[in-house]
Order: sequence, then structure tokens, then C-alpha cells
Amino acid sequence: MGSGGREHALAWKLAQSALLDTLYAAPGNPGVARHATCVALDATDHAAVVDFVADHDVGLVVIGPEAPLVDGLADSLRAAGVPVFGPDRAAAQLEGSKGFTKDLCREADIPTAGYVRVGNRTEAEAALASTFSYPVVIKADGLAAGKGVVIATSEAEAAAAFDTMFDGGDAPVVIEEFLDGEEASLFVLTDGVALLPFGSAQDHKRVGEGDTGPNTGGMGAYSPAPVLTPALERRALDEIVAPTVKALAERGTPFSGVLYAGLMLTATGPKLIEYNARFGDPECQVLMPRFAGDLLETMLAVAQGRLGELSLAAFRDEAAMTVVIAAAGYPGTPAPGGAIRGIDAAEATGAIVFQAGTRQDGDRLVASGGRVLAVTATGTDIRAARDAAYHGVAAIDYADGFHRRDIGWRELAR
Ligand code: AMP
Ligand code: GLY
Repeated sequence: MGSGGREHALAWKLAQSALLDTLYAAPGNPGVARHATCVALDATDHAAVVDFVADHDVGLVVIGPEAPLVDGLADSLRAAGVPVFGPDRAAAQLEGSKGFTKDLCREADIPTAGYVRVGNRTEAEAALASTFSYPVVIKADGLAAGKGVVIATSEAEAAAAFDTMFDGGDAPVVIEEFLDGEEASLFVLTDGVALLPFGSAQDHKRVGEGDTGPNTGGMGAYSPAPVLTPALERRALDEIVAPTVKALAERGTPFSGVLYAGLMLTATGPKLIEYNARFGDPECQVLMPRFAGDLLETMLAVAQGRLGELSLAAFRDEAAMTVVIAAAGYPGTPAPGGAIRGIDAAEATGAIVFQAGTRQDGDRLVASGGRVLAVTATGTDIRAARDAAYHGVAAIDYADGFHRRDIGWRELAR
């Protein structure tokens, strides 16, 4: 389920499984269609999805994006007896509500930024005055597609954030302490009991080079993230992810799927910034080319509560990088309809071109979204992966597109 670059990467990897009979994608995109039969299903119409799955004898449903998870599509499918990769609505609250996650961290003693939950502007201003110093982090509670977080460095900036978040009245907001450090993302598969570490990555959220300008869904990523050393990963698993999985299981709402832990590596150790209840986009595009196992077998083990039977997830000892090509205007209103050529030429260089916002218009491939392509390559190290990914980017002919030329800059500068 899904239609982005993440889902193209998942379809590409699932299609390599010896266990696969037929792969359907709903709705998919022209890139996904190279590996799957695309069907027009509306993820919000649970009955239609359940009917399709029953009619086609589907043995596993993989839910890519967060919205259908938070909306309980996994619950509807499980109620119909269908194995699902992705958490139920209750466990997806880890991504769906920042306040839910902060409360769980407090209860389970999980390291994270100090916080206060507020419901209106008066409470927010009182909390700010009594509890916090600048910079302070102000977050809308619910799903906001990466646009719900403001780091305010002054009272005026905090006031401007409140203007937006309390526009039209009361709203759930989390105010939290600013954490200093470098960020890394850790992916962990779980069936609610067993944990299987599934790689690390760093993405580039800002639209502009040098990490400037507005936030986006992600302009590029690389994996692994060497800044998350094996020792730090161990701490993050023991101090953050394992207690989260245990706490949810004890509440009777076990998490099944992939936990994406956004971590801040602070001077005192890893702290949780946030959880996502799905793979990252574009982080998935760098995890899948490195994963040496059978994705379908692994996801089935998660969905059927058999993850404990698998030992390590085998990742190739190489680096991967993905560079997102976005439509001019993104993350504002993207230019629609621009023609895209050169995918075969890019792939002839050894790169993999995952498609995100694309549409087939007769025999032309055209842009239909903000993030359009994710050009991905692997190499013996991050430099080799970077050179190969940008070699692929150079072969793409998409006049309306732009991309960052500095993906991986932090790691490359070390
Ligand atoms: P999120 O949408 O929760 O991923 O937040 C977006 C970005 O805001 C994160 O990737 C961090 O760069 C930053 N951020 C969120 N919370 C904090 C925090 N407590 N301290 C410092 N930076 C933060
Ligand atoms: N790339 C960030 C995310 O998927 O949330």
C-alpha cells in the first residue's frame, strides 16, 4: 500500500523474493509498476481493501505510509485474518501522537527531551515562562508531514509558532527541551516481542544545501550512519527501543512492523527525538539495496509473530546513498507535469532510480508530485556511493527538477 519512492524500493526488493507469487501495489506508481500489478484502491476505504485481498488470496499486506496505519487499516485487515506488515492503530500512536510517545517515555524511563503537553495558548505561554529556556522546541501533536515542528530561539519566534498552532482555537501541542547533538535514524523490526535491528541512516530534511531552508520529507539519505557506532546502537536498542516494545506489549497493544527511531546523539548518550511507525522515505531507498536477506520472508516472520526464528538481518558491508530530485517549488507548490527522461541511462550507470511523484502520460513519464525521483547507488564506502549516485543523477533529463549536491556532507567531511 502506497505510492512513493519508499514503496518503489519495497516493491523492488519484494520482487526479488523466491517466495513471491504475485505482487500487487495500491495505488503504486509507474516505477512500482515495473515490479507489481498496480490497482486503484483507496487506502481509506478499508472494506474495499479487505475485499480485494480476499478476492485475490493475498497472503501479506505491507503498509508503507503512516496515514493508513494511524487510520487503522492494519486493524481492519487483521480482523479479516490477513497477515499485515505494519502496526495496529493503537501502536501507530507512537507516530500519530507526539504526546502519547512522550508520556510512554516518561512511564518507561526512556531517555528523551523534557516536555510539557499543553492544550491551548494560555497553557503554552505559562509552560514556556516557567519551565523552558531558549531554544525551545514546539510541536503539533498529530501527523504533520514533517511540518509540525518549530525550533524557537526567542519569545517572538515562539509566539509566531503559537499563532500557527493555535490558529482557530485549542490544539494539542508538545513543548520540549532542545537537544544538542547529531541525529541518526535507527530501524528495528519487531513482532511485538522479538527485535531485529534493521540498519541505520541519516537523511537531509532541509530543502537547501548546507541544511538550510524549509523542512521537506527528505532530500536524500545515506546508510549506514557511522555516527551511530555499534556501542551507541546497542545503547539505543537497550535503553530506548526495547523498553518501548515491552511497554506497548504490556499495555496489550503490541507494536508489529518497523520502528523508526529518530535519535539525537547527545553528550550523555542517545535520546529519542521521535518515533515513526514505518520505514523512512527516502531512508528505505538506501536500506533496501544494502539488505542481503529475503524481504518477503522477513516481513512474513514479523507479521506472523515468528521474528524470534530469524537471527541477524544481513546487510552488505557497503554504503548506499540516495539523492532526491524534486519538482521546482517543492516543498511549496511543486511544478506539475514536467517531462522526465533518462531513467534507463541513469540505470545503465549502475544506479537504481526509485520513482516517487511520477505519472505516465501516454508514452511520456511526467512529474506529479513534490519529490519525483530518488536516484540511489551503493559503493564500497560513502564516497563511492556518493559518486555513483550523482553519476546517475547526471543522466536524468528533467528540466523542472532540482536536487541537493551535498547529500552526505557531514559524513564526507569527517
Ligand atoms: P520531527 O518532525 O519530530 O522529526 O522533528 C523534525 C526535526 O526537528 C528533527 O529531525 C530534529 O532535527 C528537530 N527536533 C525535534 N525535536 C527536537 C529536540 N527536542 N531538540 C532538538 N531538535 C529537535
Ligand atoms: N525522511 C523522514 C521520514 O520519512 O519521516
